[in-house]
Amino acid sequence: MRSDARYHSISILTLKWRMFVIKPIVPSNALEFKTVRLSALKDSPTAFGSTFAKESRFTDADWFKRATDWSGDRAVGYLAMDFGAACGIAGAFLSDSDPRRASLVSMWVAPAHRRTGIGRSLIEAIRTWARGRGAHKLHLMVTSNNSAAIEFYRRNGFAMTGIIEPYPNDSALIEYEMSQSILDSCSQ
Ligand SMILES: CC(C)(COP(=O)(O)OP(=O)(O)OC[C@H]1O[C@@H](n2cnc3c(N)ncnc32)[C@H](O)[C@@H]1OP(=O)(O)O)[C@@H](O)C(=O)NCCC(=O)NCCS
Repeated sequence: MRSDARYHSISILTLKWRMFVIKPIVPSNALEFKTVRLSALKDSPTAFGSTFAKESRFTDADWFKRATDWSGDRAVGYLAMDFGAACGIAGAFLSDSDPRRASLVSMWVAPAHRRTGIGRSLIEAIRTWARGRGAHKLHLMVTSNNSAAIEFYRRNGFAMTGIIEPYPNDSALIEYEMSQSILDSCSQ
């Protein structure tokens, strides 16, 4: 019977161990990128520097250009895919002024997929990319009301740098900078 407690525990286990794959954003999946990014902005309106109101006005040509920019030498994006549907995203770019510095942006996992290791896998993909581009440090900005993300980043090796900035979309909030060294242990 479906109300049996054993049935529910099996369902939860299946959810917890659901398989997912991480794939790079490229021009050919620009519309998947659009869908997941707009979902992120709608779901977590104070987690990002941009807004749903702004990005929902972008044309498909804009998303194609963005996907092209995010798959060049200095920037990258990854989608987490669950049975063909995008359920997570993260991006990174190298600083123009200091190529040893990479910034992690746009980190988001769909609510039903959280706490299954997708965020951790997205960060690992970004770290590998940034190391491969010669970056020594990975930085990010996180909004002051986002204690879940702050804890997630701490658990993934980031620490507060002490730098704060105003949050552009809500003057009641600020943004904290967090960073981590990504030098290989043998080259530190
Ligand atoms: C923050 C976020 C990306 C985490 O993604 P996720 O896929 O759930 O993270 P993971 O499953 O890889 O978690 C890895 C570890 O981080 C920590 N962690 C993750 N979410 C956490 C939470 N809500 N509270 C406390 N710790 C958390 C845990 O230690 C977790 O390991 P565990 O589940 O074995 O305990 C996700 O909650 C999210 O998309 N939030 C909304 C958007 C957002 O805030 N983005 C950040 C913008 S700066």
